Amino acid sequence: MRKIIINGGKPLSGEVAVSGAKNSVVALIPAIILADDIVTLDGVPAISDVDSLIDIMVSMGAKVNRDGETLEIDPRGVKDVPMPYGKINSLRASYYFYGSLLGRFGQAVVGLPGGCDLGPRPIDLHLKAFEAMGASISYEGESMRLATDGEPIHGAHIYMDTVSVGATINTMIAAAKAKGRTVIENAAREPEIIDVATLLNNMGAHIRGAGTDVIVIEGVETLHGTRHQVIPDRIEAGTYIAMAAAVGQGIRVTNVLYEHLESYIAKLEEMGVRMTVEEDSIFVEAQENLKAVSVKTSPYPGFATDLQQPITPLLLTAQGRGAIVDTIYEKRVNHVPEMARMGADISVVGSQIVYNGPNQLSGAQVKATDLRAGAALVIAGLMAQGKTEITNIEFILRGYSNIIEKLTALGADIQLVEE
Ligand code: UD1
Repeated sequence: MRKIIINGGKPLSGEVAVSGAKNSVVALIPAIILADDIVTLDGVPAISDVDSLIDIMVSMGAKVNRDGETLEIDPRGVKDVPMPYGKINSLRASYYFYGSLLGRFGQAVVGLPGGCDLGPRPIDLHLKAFEAMGASISYEGESMRLATDGEPIHGAHIYMDTVSVGATINTMIAAAKAKGRTVIENAAREPEIIDVATLLNNMGAHIRGAGTDVIVIEGVETLHGTRHQVIPDRIEAGTYIAMAAAVGQGIRVTNVLYEHLESYIAKLEEMGVRMTVEEDSIFVEAQENLKAVSVKTSPYPGFATDLQQPITPLLLTAQGRGAIVDTIYEKRVNHVPEMARMGADISVVGSQIVYNGPNQLSGAQVKATDLRAGAALVIAGLMAQGKTEITNIEFILRGYSNIIEKLTALGADIQLVEE
């Protein structure tokens, strides 16, 4: 079993660089299946979700070469082989293989996706879009089969009932080589959607409107190789900014696109966090007398659900009462009992999290129940007096590139131990 052990209460300072965006790269890699030549990605984070996707790509016949943050994928040898449940269920984003295999072969047999337990996470919108594009869906054990009658999939007019990042990207991937025009209405507007559209367009696709709520895709017959820089991870950036505000004595978070974090930064300013926005970095000063605020998540450009858990430890340092309402994943509250175990006055009341501060946390044995809850526990451990032991750290390593090294360089007493 692997654990993270933190001796908290140490003031941190220095610089920490944000890696490439997890939620982009987990879509970019499957999208490369559509190319008929080598595609190179730069800025690929060292996270286990990327390792899993590479394993899957290799098992399908792709040639993959990874050198530091550069990933070269030759998808020409990819075969239309079934991808059973076991390989696929470790990550939610495996659903992007539905779109890319359907786009390339007109069929896909893929296990059902896994991922963090944030309550119900249906994929009905993805399937509705694929059906509108001519695919029929059937189930084979724990796998799903998407197929057409030998015809390539075709364009369609799709209205998303709910704003969904995954369904928007998946439809875009499938539509890139579909016959005719696809229109996605009520599309999600997250920066990762623009990043995937940029890669596909640089491969020769015709996608307009990514980043707005109407995306139009004119299908093309072939897509070629290209080279692409992954955008910085705004969630990792937000995590380090919250950590810097909680325990920093002056920390510069670099490789940040401020525009991707506006609602988050506005919320931190409301708390009284002192920051200086620089060209592609944010300097966070040491803080005192922060004010409790309430947080409500919503689709981009609103406050990201993925930052709700990482900001929680910082909220706990503030004076007063506040609430967190997650309108995307109401059940995303697994970090709350762990924070309470560390001595925080925080609880779940109905469909909200309520807290009362300021709190001085104490080290404890806690469990990372999902990726962003794990990030919250790392920050809480750095804030706490004494020793914190975090188990289930596989979740954290799925999404935070070199987290131990990055925090150690800032002066943290943090170790990953194997028992
Ligand atoms: C993505 C992110 C995840 C983030 C989430 C919301 C990836 C790999 N993961 O997840 O980190 O927390 O966006 O920003 O990019 N929904 C349906 N039917 C569907 C699809 C979604 O009802 O077919 C609902 C979901 O239950 C949720 C909402 O739509 O309430 C938004 O989910 P969605 O944006 O699709 O999340 P993911 O793409 O899975």
